[in-house]
Amino acid sequence: MTGTILVAEDETIPRRNICRVLHEEGYRVHEATDGRAALVAIDERDFDLVLTDLRMPGADGLAVLQRVREVAPQTFVAIMTAHASVDTAVAALQLGAQDYLLKPIVFDDLLRKVHLLMEHKSLAWENQMLRREVNRHIDPSGMVGESPAMRAVLRLISKVAAAASTVLITGESGVGKELVARAIHAESPRQDKVFLPVNCSAIPDTLLESQLFGHTKGAFTGALNAQDGLFRKARGGTIFLDEIGELPLTLQPKLLRVIERKEVLPLGATSPIQVDVRILAASNRDLEKEIEAGRFREDLFYRLNVVGIPVPPLRERRDDIPLLVEHLIQRHNLEMKTNCRGVTHEAMQLLMAAPWKGNVRELENVLERAMILGNGEWLSPEDLPSGQAFSRDTGQAGHELKAALRSYEKSHIESVLREAGRDRVRAAKLLGISRSSLYRKMEQLGIAFD
Ligand SMILES: Nc1ncnc2c1ncn2[C@@H]1O[C@H](COP(=O)(O)OP(=O)(O)OP(=O)(O)O)[C@@H](O)[C@H]1O
Ligand SMILES: [Mg+2]
Repeated sequence: MTGTILVAEDETIPRRNICRVLHEEGYRVHEATDGRAALVAIDERDFDLVLTDLRMPGADGLAVLQRVREVAPQTFVAIMTAHASVDTAVAALQLGAQDYLLKPIVFDDLLRKVHLLMEHKSLAWENQMLRREVNRHIDPSGMVGESPAMRAVLRLISKVAAAASTVLITGESGVGKELVARAIHAESPRQDKVFLPVNCSAIPDTLLESQLFGHTKGAFTGALNAQDGLFRKARGGTIFLDEIGELPLTLQPKLLRVIERKEVLPLGATSPIQVDVRILAASNRDLEKEIEAGRFREDLFYRLNVVGIPVPPLRERRDDIPLLVEHLIQRHNLEMKTNCRGVTHEAMQLLMAAPWKGNVRELENVLERAMILGNGEWLSPEDLPSGQAFSRDTGQAGHELKAALRSYEKSHIESVLREAGRDRVRAAKLLGISRSSLYRKMEQLGIAFD
């Protein structure tokens, strides 16, 4: 087991014992002999977990908890307390402690809770500093993602980058289609040449043809000079035709010609001009439906879709959210010269569970807004937009969060049952709950009694 733990306890013998047990398990352990020493330690370094006594001279456990929440909200806190003050321990949980331990400390209980907290922490939080380093090394194009779905996309990118083939990138708005196109270009042999994005829906139909393919002098009223057109501007490099579904039917055969013959015919010209340009296209419309509706040519679709890269919506790859949050915050820090260190554990849970209809772009906007309006180095739930998506226990997000916690609880109880050789009395003891609560939980969570 790894992790750094601060043990704050004024009584020498229990403190030494706790530190020794944790040290033997492989944790790095720091000691604080009273509350004030704990506050100093918290200001000085980052801990994964702070185990603090409730009653100490100098500053009590609640003051320690409060300081951790202020300066290091990613740190977990567990409060140690005697039987008599369970009420205060509950208050501590409400103030944001992750757990509490009853004194005198039972070491098995201590270790189990500490392991669980550490495991939970690395699962839910991910080590942001470490990831920052990893990101820097693996993605030149600024694309992050570790979910199986994104790994598949990244693999496809590397494969098609080397080829010259046309690629059609599809996916909902904001999933990262343009970023995929940029990544393909950045890994391709054309990386030193131009990457030219063209949004087909942003140019009026009447201008699109001359913009794309160019025109000769006097080709139409107002054509005072000859124009090269975007395909020729992208010569040697890559052109990215975004929102290709918006390309008018009249222009579709002309694009087909560029792809098939590698030549453009400028407006007003009599002979075509050769162009060497790689074509990438993207659409958030379902082009097959557009074909059925007669708005998109089937032959063009097959020419574009030599390789198709579907980019999955964010809600189908929630594992990527911590990584994206970290990446996007760093990016905004650079752009806005801010010094945001990350999001709190609670905020991360809400971000993990939100529906993200606007995908990565929406996440980016939510974080940017929080960085502008928030008032701390760490973004907290209060900095997230109010409304259903981010409320704690209502709506879709709340349900998903509950479902996640439920499945976590289920797998935890199952593993403790296995550990106890399916002996329910022992399992209840290990879990620190009564036998009847264990039965009730097993029933609720659908765990077999055999
Ligand atoms: N995997 C990712 N890693 C890092 N940043 C990402 C990732 N995916 C998307 N982004 C960021 O999210 C924003 C939206 O991405 P992008 O513009 O590529 O989406 P899009 O699919 O082209 O959206 P639209 O359909 O609205 O044009 C960008 O700022 C992009 O940098
Ligand atoms: Mg786009």
